[in-house]
Formats: sequence, C-alpha cells, structure tokens
Amino acid sequence: MFHLTEEHEAVREAARQFAQNDLKPGVIERDTKMQYPREQVRKMAELGFLGMMTAPEYGGGGMDTLAYVIAMEEISKVDSSCSVIMSVNNSLVCWGIETYGTEEQKQKYLPKLASGEWIGSFCLSEPEAGSDATSQRTTAVDMGDHYLLNGTKNWITNGGTSSVHLVIAQTYPEKKHRGINAFIVETSWPGVTVGAKEDKLGIRASDTHTIMYNDVKVPKENRIGEDGFGFKFAMNTLNGGRIGIAAQALGIAAGAYELALEYSKQREAFGKPISQHQAIAFKIADMATDIEAARLLVYRAAAMKDKHLDFAQAAAMAKLFASETAMRHTVEAVQIHGGYGYVKEYHVERLMRDAKITQIYEGTSEVQRIVISRNVLNGELYVPWI
Ligand code: CAA
Repeated sequence: MFHLTEEHEAVREAARQFAQNDLKPGVIERDTKMQYPREQVRKMAELGFLGMMTAPEYGGGGMDTLAYVIAMEEISKVDSSCSVIMSVNNSLVCWGIETYGTEEQKQKYLPKLASGEWIGSFCLSEPEAGSDATSQRTTAVDMGDHYLLNGTKNWITNGGTSSVHLVIAQTYPEKKHRGINAFIVETSWPGVTVGAKEDKLGIRASDTHTIMYNDVKVPKENRIGEDGFGFKFAMNTLNGGRIGIAAQALGIAAGAYELALEYSKQREAFGKPISQHQAIAFKIADMATDIEAARLLVYRAAAMKDKHLDFAQAAAMAKLFASETAMRHTVEAVQIHGGYGYVKEYHVERLMRDAKITQIYEGTSEVQRIVISRNVLNGELYVPWI
C-alpha cells in the first residue's frame, strides 16, 4: 500500500529539526500562557508546512498525504497546538477548496492559504450540533445574487486568527442534511464576529473561538459545489481531516513514548534503571507495539487517499485507534515518570492533556465507531491487501 521514498524521509527530517529547534523552546510557556505561536506559524509557512498537499500551481508543495502525515507526526511529538493549526489549514481548508471548489475559488483563495499568508477555519460545529452534525441551525437564505448567513459556530480552531472560514449552513430545512450548503466566507466581511477564546485543557496555544454570523452577505460564487452539497462536502473533507488528526494522535503517543523510554533508562530505583524492572519494560513493550500499529493504520489511510480509493473507513479506524493509543500511553508515560511526570518541565503532562482532544475533535471516538460499524454491518469492510 505504501512505499516511503527519500523525499518522505527528507520531510520527516525537516519536520523533526523544526520541531526540536523552533517548537520545543518555549512550548511550555506558550501552553501555560495560552499564547498563540505567531512566530512559529510564520516559520511553518516559510517551510511549506501549511499547504503541503496543495498543487504547486496554487502555491502549495504538491506532496502526497503520506508526506503530510509524516510531518504531522514529528511536529505533534513536540507541539500539538502548532500541528492542529497546520492540520486544519492543510486537510480541511486547502484540500476542501482544491477538491470541491471552482477554478475561480481555487485561484482566489489557495495561493494565500497554502502559503500561510492567510489561515483558514472549518466551521461546522454549533452549540447544539457537535456529533449530530446534520442538525445545523445556522441558516443561509437564498436572496438571489447572494446568501444571507446567520448563526453561531462553536469550538472553531484558528477562530481568532483566520482570514477565511468554510461555513456549513442550512438552506432548505425541509430537506434535512440534503438542504445544507458550504460557503467560503472572508472574516473581514461585515457581520462576522469573533467571540470568546476558549480556556482549554490541552492544545492551549492554539486559538479556539465561538464565531457569530449576523446577516453576512455571501456572494453566490462563494458556495462550494452544487446547491445542497454542503453536508457531503463536510463529511468528505472531514474524512481527510481525520487522517491528519490520527497523525497528530500518533505523534503525541510517539512523543510521550520517546520521553518515557529515555527517562526509564536513566532513572534508577531499587539498584538499577527502572527500564530493567519488568513492570516498566512491559509498559514500554505495549507502547512500542500500539504506536507501530497506529502508524500502520495512519499510513494505510493516507496511502488509500493518495490512490483515490474510498478511505472513509480507513480514516475512521486510524483516528479511533491512534487517539485511544495516545490517551492510554500518555497516561502510562506520566506513570513511568512518577512525580516528575506530574510537573510541566518534563513535557509528558502536557502531552497527556493534548491527547484528550484527539478523541473529540473532527469526530469523537464514538462517531468513528458509527462510521466503522455502519460500513462493517453493510458488508463494506475494505481490506486492500486481501
Ligand atoms: N463520509 C462520507 N459520507 C458520509 C460519512 C463519511 N464519513 N458519514 C456520513 N456520510 C453521509 C451518509 O452517507 C449520508 O449520505 P446520504 O444522505 O447520501 O445517504 C449522510 O452523510 C448522512 O449520514 P447519516 O445518515 O449516517 O447521518 P447520521 O446523522 O446518522 O450520522 C455522522 C452522521 C456520521 C454522525 C456525522 O454527523 C458525523 O460525522 N458527525 C461528526 C461531525 C464531526 O466530525 N465534527 C467535527 C467538527 S470539525 C472540527 O473539529 C475541526 C476543527 O476545528 C479541529
């Protein structure tokens, strides 16, 4: 299903160097102060991490999804506040516009977004429509030459810093999810208001906001796809987004594992390094095995996407397993560190807090199980190597 090339290894090395040299110093302070990583995002843009998969003709790196997940893993080992900014911009906003937008939309928005001059947000969740995403209350009323957008979106990543929103809204309530549309909305337009910034458990340096739309005039040419395609657009785009978050979860788990492994070889108790006690060695064995399995699922989903196969289920499996692995093993990494693990200086407590969101955003673990079980029960389990 996949073959790692020299280019993939070069991407891994570049992302690793960037994470160690530019992200690690200051990551604790940014997390504590909820300080947006402005300088680090600028550097990510300069290195091409914000539009990795976008075609070069639209200002992107033209790389495949495998290269993107490799970079996501390395950056997430150190700083998931930065990697979620990167993930939303790459796999939801840029990919969504490039795959489903008109030529005019691509030419107008992608060069700015892929270069990182502008950052994008994906605005689906609402106060009463999280997992139940078909219950959209935000409305987009057809006024002839434009739509009038009204409503509130919650938990919007990049909410305070983005210049473009992809907004999902209901146009024909009687048609339920088939009456939903998706729009490209510029945040400078009258009627777009950025609400309160959330004070979060993890990924604290990324900015997450409520957004209000009050009589925002959206030109007809800014609708994405056919009339009523908005829910399919959101689901199809989220399938790709879920691979990015699965890679983030993999990175968090791998980052915690690397720290715990190193610590266990240095810390001595009862006369020998704690790694020589079976209680710790077995934890290390379980971590190594689960992380390897998560990596295979993430790479498989990425490779299926790159081969234009139906990857919805593979993405859901990768996200489910990688995020559960991240949560379970960051807890174990803290345990291996003992008291040191409970203080900020050793990084693992932050990784443990960051892990939790990977089980929630871009579809909770329960939503992934809905996607997987429906496919499996319909007899649609797709195992490409059988
Ligand atoms: N891929 C493609 N199509 C999908 C799909 C998928 N993964 N999941 C559902 N669909 C399609 C269905 O095939 C169906 O299409 P038809 O009308 O043509 O039959 C349509 O969507 C409706 O699906 P269901 O009938 O299954 O609807 P449901 O209400 O029973 O369940 C759900 C839908 C799977 C739970 C869906 O609502 C869902 O995925 N919810 C989670 C939403 C989510 O991921 N939110 C994340 C917010 S974005 C974010 O977090 C970004 C950020 O800032 C970090």
